[in-house]
Amino acid sequence: MNELDALVQTARTQFELADTPNDLENAKAQFLGKSGRITELMKGMAALSVDDKKAQGALINQAKQAIEAALTARRNALAQAELDIQLKAEALDVTLPGRSAGQGGLHPVSLTIERIESIFGSMGFDVADGPEIESDWFNFTALNTPADHPARSMHDTFYVEKVVESEDGQPNLLRTHTSPMQIRHAVQHVKRHRAALDAGQGMPEIRVIAPGRTYRVDSDATHSPMFHQCEGLWIGENVSFKDLRVVFTEFCKTYFESKDLVLRFRPSFFPFTEPGAEVDIQFATGPLAGKWLEVAGCGQTHPDVVRNMGLDPEHFIGFAFGMGPDRLAMLRYGVNDLRLFFDGDLRFLKQFE
Ligand code: PHE
Repeated sequence: MNELDALVQTARTQFELADTPNDLENAKAQFLGKSGRITELMKGMAALSVDDKKAQGALINQAKQAIEAALTARRNALAQAELDIQLKAEALDVTLPGRSAGQGGLHPVSLTIERIESIFGSMGFDVADGPEIESDWFNFTALNTPADHPARSMHDTFYVEKVVESEDGQPNLLRTHTSPMQIRHAVQHVKRHRAALDAGQGMPEIRVIAPGRTYRVDSDATHSPMFHQCEGLWIGENVSFKDLRVVFTEFCKTYFESKDLVLRFRPSFFPFTEPGAEVDIQFATGPLAGKWLEVAGCGQTHPDVVRNMGLDPEHFIGFAFGMGPDRLAMLRYGVNDLRLFFDGDLRFLKQFE
């Protein structure tokens, strides 16, 4: 084997030994680089005669081409190997089982509101809805709470840029209670029965609850700037505080599944009731036994409010109540921090699925 054949053989072996493109380029330099073996041989030809130069030059060129071919072959082989590895790594196993969508559950407050709706539904109450961005009129004025009324200070809330046209040009706000839905619902009801009312034929009673989100500037373990309320309203020709007691007592006993639960109606003031009361409950057994727990505000609907509903308070009378589903959920499930309901922590929420 002559020197050039041996050189080509060595190059092939070196290229085969190179496992990475980097190693391969280093190996290439030994043969084809500026001071590689082929280059050296070319330089060495300077001393040869013209004929020898021709013959030797052709041989060196052949060897050079053979080495370049070996280099290209190895480069391609390495690139292919790299691609194979990459493809293998990215391969999808289409036979693997899929990931299921997972099933959610209702939020404990939603469960509570559903429970409230079903209990009042069994007593003949409809369910109404209303906007969370409310006008000053529905949230306060129609409920006998004019602009300078001190009761407004307990309902500090979030005022918003005008979003919906408000009847009285007053600002809009995030409703501080569900009571504006009393007025909204009653006004609609009365409108529908206006003709019969004017003809002295009366109207079907208004018996409705209205649950929803409410807002106040308040935040601690038992108050959240967004919380829930559920309003109740029963207006008819002869609906009294006695009916309120019966209805609300029945509701509490059913809701808490406790026949020996006791209620206390403690006199209180709301501009839209006369008289007004706060409802406390007391469990006979369980961890909270013996404690009075406030669960609702209520009262006989104030004559001015009945008038704002479009009715004559001489003929129509009734009661309203407003309770906190968040509070009811805390009591029923034994939750001690209201904020847990709104943190969205799945470890907490999953317990109610
Ligand atoms: N809206 C009252 C509040 O948020 C509760 C209430 C409703 C009181 C209905 C009486 C009648 O405090």
